[in-house]
Amino acid sequence: MDPCNLPRSIDLKHDQKLFNMKSLVIGVLAFVALAALVVATKVSDLTQGVDTIDAHDYQVAVADRIRPFGQVYMPGEELQAAAPTVETAEEPAPVVTALSGPQVYNTACLACHGTGIGGAPILGDAAMWAPRIAQGIDLLKDRAINGYTGSAGHMPPKGGRIDLSDQEINDAVDYMAAEAT
Ligand code: HEC
Repeated sequence: MDPCNLPRSIDLKHDQKLFNMKSLVIGVLAFVALAALVVATKVSDLTQGVDTIDAHDYQVAVADRIRPFGQVYMPGEELQAAAPTVETAEEPAPVVTALSGPQVYNTACLACHGTGIGGAPILGDAAMWAPRIAQGIDLLKDRAINGYTGSAGHMPPKGGRIDLSDQEINDAVDYMAAEAT
């Protein structure tokens, strides 16, 4: 059979069907595209709308973010930026620590009074200390602070540790006197 002699009616029906199908698909696609456009516009209005962010604040924020790291000044040019201010932390007051009587004795007195070097009365020797304590504890403290040369030898002021406070020396004398009784 000659293909050119096909009944014309069959061919037309087929074309019509195809055309209808295509129109439907294009229509649906167009609708989806339109819907997407509307949704996108709505969302962008909600999140990036000009009315939600103050335009001035926004520009200030952007200018701050992109401002140059430093500036170059030529000699003679006026300094445009304020000189950097250096902040120093407030220093806490130094903690004042005082040594106890036994601590002072161990660090400043023991060298002589531990073994009696140079005639120093030995710690804990009641016989050596009794006549000295009898003079009164205040005199002993005064001599320990200011130094003293007696018949037995030389007692240097504060045992040579003039960095110690009077109170620390007094505490050490109290300790030595207590050890002797
Ligand atoms: C370099 C040695 C030396 C050191 C260190 C030393 N002393 Fe003496 N001290 C002596 C001597 C020596 C005497 C005896 C002096 C005397 O009676 O002739 C003495 C005597 C004393 C007396 C008796 C004073 C009196 O009137 O009888 C006291 C109290 C005393 N010392 C306290 C101290 C204390 C407290 C220290 C430590 C902070 C100290 N000494 C460190 C050598 C020392």
